Amino acid sequence: MTMQEQGFANRLTEYGDREFALFLRRSFAKSMGFSDEALGKPIVGIVNTYSELNNCHRGFRELAEAVKRGVWQAGGLPLEFPVISLGEVFLSPSAMMMRNLMSMDVEVMLKAQPLDAVVLMGGCDKTLPALLMGACCAGIPAITLAAGPMLTGSDEGERLGACTDCRRYWARYRRSEIDRARIDEAESQLAPTQGTCGVMGTASTMACVIEALGMMLPSGAAIPAVHAERLRHGEASGKVAVDLAARRSAPSDILSSKSFENALRVLLAIGGSTNAIIHLTAIAGRLGIRLDLRTLDDLSESTPVLVDLKPTGDFYMEDFYRAGGLPVVLQELKPLLHLDAATVTGRTLGELLDTPYQFPAWQKVIHSAAEPLMPHGALVALYGNLAPDGAVLKRSAATPSLLNTTGRAVVFSSLADLSRRIDAPDLDVQPDDFLVLQNAGPVGGPGMPEAGYLPIPRKLTGVKDMVRISDARMSGTAFGTVVLHVSPEAAVGGPLGLVRSGDRIDLSVDQRRLTLLVDDRELERRRAEQPSAPPASTRGYEWLYRAHIQQAHLGADFDFLRHESLRDPGAP
Ligand code: FES
Repeated sequence: MTMQEQGFANRLTEYGDREFALFLRRSFAKSMGFSDEALGKPIVGIVNTYSELNNCHRGFRELAEAVKRGVWQAGGLPLEFPVISLGEVFLSPSAMMMRNLMSMDVEVMLKAQPLDAVVLMGGCDKTLPALLMGACCAGIPAITLAAGPMLTGSDEGERLGACTDCRRYWARYRRSEIDRARIDEAESQLAPTQGTCGVMGTASTMACVIEALGMMLPSGAAIPAVHAERLRHGEASGKVAVDLAARRSAPSDILSSKSFENALRVLLAIGGSTNAIIHLTAIAGRLGIRLDLRTLDDLSESTPVLVDLKPTGDFYMEDFYRAGGLPVVLQELKPLLHLDAATVTGRTLGELLDTPYQFPAWQKVIHSAAEPLMPHGALVALYGNLAPDGAVLKRSAATPSLLNTTGRAVVFSSLADLSRRIDAPDLDVQPDDFLVLQNAGPVGGPGMPEAGYLPIPRKLTGVKDMVRISDARMSGTAFGTVVLHVSPEAAVGGPLGLVRSGDRIDLSVDQRRLTLLVDDRELERRRAEQPSAPPASTRGYEWLYRAHIQQAHLGADFDFLRHESLRDPGAP
């Protein structure tokens, strides 16, 4: 690298005169009050996703200042800038629809600006994957910094954490177990601090798997957002970013198929969110690394569940932090991991784990590999005539007696149909029926909303779980016997769209099968009668989205953003 390629001399604005472009740039940079000494340092961009429409990132102004301290200490020039921020519950129809848009924003701005390295600040569900997807394509040295989880609140002595307890309390309210006054009080306690949801939801899962990928400093996933340690971690991340700039170490130099296998192992061991499969597939896809559900399923057989966190267990992220966080999980999984996988620190995962270690037996949040919570991984993939390209089920969050059952389908053709009929007194439904939701996938939703956790019909008082099947996603904070991401989805002609109320469906988790018990001739007849798809939007981002979104098993990424080695011949 020559000095001309570093700092402000990097990626000059095109005027046809490079020296003039640099002169002009330095003049304008000096208007911000920087000295020549400051302007000569490598530039570390701080990608700050602070937004007043993203409660989870409320602490990012202070956290960014900590990062800047670290960058200055290590001899860099920190420059903070915004990109799109995705606050999960503030976006319609769903944040997932904007994940790829955010990744494009990140990629374009990282490529356009004079940056030698970046610190990617994210946290709320879609932000960390979008940041990493963009950084992988930009090819700029990058380190990820998570917001950290919220602390818990309480209601009448009961600990509450977003958002598993949001769903649990709402279900209790729907069953008339608590009244309006009580649920209104809980509303103030469920998300009591800055930070991401305080359970092993999608945000915490993504932080953990990114730590396992080696793209975050050790322990970074679990430190609570409000803890002073979070600021020290931010400062350390800033220092490492300067080192990454000196090493010119881009994400593609760190991430490999071994890193992704490590991340899948961790996902299975922490009982993580099903959404992480889609995000990991999309991140890997940007680098030309193919992840598929069969790999996940193979790893699931030999990966124990070690972490006892909500939504599948008893504890919260702050307990996970106090128990030692992800480094303890990684130590316990060590024989199963690729220890030669690289990390942002410049050391391999094995080198990071090569420290004196004793299992913290005083705590109950993380189990040892010798005495796991479950002998097999939390997630499984299902295939069959109802899901030719696969579907996903979180068995650790399911009711064991429902995992191998046959049931009668009660079909909802869309989200609107679901909300119109689910609580209708005349809905023909029994506790052992399978609730089926169609047209809630990447195209049909659109944006694959987190609607897969269909509510239990109000008339089935006392029923706490039923088999639910859809092409939608489910919040990482939800639980139940829920088959998700059915691919291909109903809206693009997938067999899910051919299911009719009264059909029988066989779910066999033991055999990894999801079978619609209707003969092929009848299915063909139904297919011929299917109404044609509604006209696609003709303008703007919605047009781009509908024209290029891929199915869940491909990471729900845009076809033109995947690495060219993974694109279909003839695709853009
Ligand atoms: Fe942001 Fe849950 S709403 S992490």
